[in-house]
Amino acid sequence: MNQNDVVVLNMEERGNKELQNEKTLICNDEEEEIICLDPSFFIDDNYQLTEFTFGSQQIQLFCLQSASTDFDLTGQLVWPGAMLLNDYLSKNVEMFQGSTVIELGSGVGITGILCRRFCNKVVLTDHNEEVLKIIQKNIELHSCPENISPTSHGLVAEKLEWGNTDQINEILQKHPGGFDIILGADIYILIQLLQVKEGGKCKFILAYVSRAKMMDSMIISEASKSNMHMNEVPGTKCIVGNLEGVIYEITLK
Ligand SMILES: C[S@@+](CC[C@H](N)C(=O)[O-])C[C@H]1O[C@@H](n2cnc3c(N)ncnc32)[C@H](O)[C@@H]1O
Repeated sequence: MNQNDVVVLNMEERGNKELQNEKTLICNDEEEEIICLDPSFFIDDNYQLTEFTFGSQQIQLFCLQSASTDFDLTGQLVWPGAMLLNDYLSKNVEMFQGSTVIELGSGVGITGILCRRFCNKVVLTDHNEEVLKIIQKNIELHSCPENISPTSHGLVAEKLEWGNTDQINEILQKHPGGFDIILGADIYILIQLLQVKEGGKCKFILAYVSRAKMMDSMIISEASKSNMHMNEVPGTKCIVGNLEGVIYEITLK
């Protein structure tokens, strides 16, 4: 490597030798070799143990208090959709009794972990490695006493990128009974996973938070095109934060 070919980001502007001590990563580039800052430089993992109350349910877990600037790290904090869905869960505990649940885009895991109190098993999923780490940490927090593994506690984290059939099949192999209920909070996906309970009926409970009118109508027309019933649960429309949210129950026609 020729020193003259090396570009150190921000080095010139800062004129600061300390930068050389920061962890660097050498990227391969045919044109020039670029030394980038280590990815950890951009990741805030200073999670705070935070308490939330939903009806009679209290739950503590680790999360950030404000969003990262990286759009792909949205899962590091609790979103309005989770507040809405957890409130719904706490008022409809009997709906989950005896069921097996999978959650999509779990973020820090507040919905799946609360739901586990009312059902047999919850598989929490996300596509982001950093987010999966905090889910795991929160699962461990809720798996005491310490000698009992999270798995035997009925809480498991799995990597799942929406639409990734290989990952879905892998999850179904590990959980061959399939799932009775799919949960989604503050996510925008109407998934093929509705068929995850072979021979039986699976319901997708989505806490939808409106961000754009166009998206509101698009999600309903997409559901209809994909042969899904999208039923707004009466009495769930409300303001969460400063946004309008609602619970949908989605089933296959
Ligand atoms: C807005 S956050 C909601 C997190 C959590 N459900 C809540 O309400 O607090 C969206 C979550 O979906 C995950 N996500 C986004 N795109 C995804 C994808 N294509 N596949 C799987 N997960 C995804 C993000 O990592 C993030 O955790």
